[in-house]
Amino acid sequence: MKIIKAADYNEMSKKAAAIIASQITLKPDSVLGLATGSSPVGLYKNLVQWYNEGLLDFSQIKTVNLDEYHGLDHTNEQSYFYFMQDNLFSHVNINMENVNLPDGTAEDGDKECARYNAVIQSMGGVDLQLLGLGHDGHIGFNEPGPIFTKGVQRAKLAETTIQANKRFFESEDQVPRYAFSMGIGNIMAAKKILVIVSGAEKAKILKEVLTGDITPEVPGSILQYHPDVTFVCDADALSLME
Ligand code: GLP
Repeated sequence: MKIIKAADYNEMSKKAAAIIASQITLKPDSVLGLATGSSPVGLYKNLVQWYNEGLLDFSQIKTVNLDEYHGLDHTNEQSYFYFMQDNLFSHVNINMENVNLPDGTAEDGDKECARYNAVIQSMGGVDLQLLGLGHDGHIGFNEPGPIFTKGVQRAKLAETTIQANKRFFESEDQVPRYAFSMGIGNIMAAKKILVIVSGAEKAKILKEVLTGDITPEVPGSILQYHPDVTFVCDADALSLME
């Protein structure tokens, strides 16, 4: 496990974007596992900037997103599809046929989990999976619980996650209670994993993830077992690690 310390959010974003940029440069047809939330916004801005400067080509890149709220369609500004369009896809030369997210409008949850799991399997392995870290240690929407999930699941959001994510919605009531998410098994199958963590409010959970027991009660702790994981964190997030 590598831990790269950045001074602040902007430096974290740039260092992490550079890792993704080098992946794209070294393997132009990479499969990228992508994440949403506030953590990767700056990272995507850097990728878009470097694309505009002619440094990156997304034409052969394939993507699979980690998760999507169940109940939100593509036009909903809080859907992760909308987020990805807004922050990355609409700004670069990616082929939208190569972009994959769970379908938030699916009526049959089990069927959608099976479909998305098959999509992930069909890509022949994720070359680089980007992750943020939830306030309760979740990765994707794999919330603390009794087991490490294997495949794509329809997850019930933990109360802490509803509270953390309500800032993006007009009211708490509007936060969907369920989301489709890659399972821990899907995430751990990625060849490389890049985790970005920012802010003092994540310092305690980050320390648990990096140094604590490996337990499904802290889902991100499983990353200690991954053979090629890099954490890029700002100084505030790492403040309890000194
Ligand atoms: C969300 C998402 C995760 C994200 C995490 C952290 O609920 N499901 O994929 O990484 O929580 O979000 P943020 O970066 O906004 O703190």
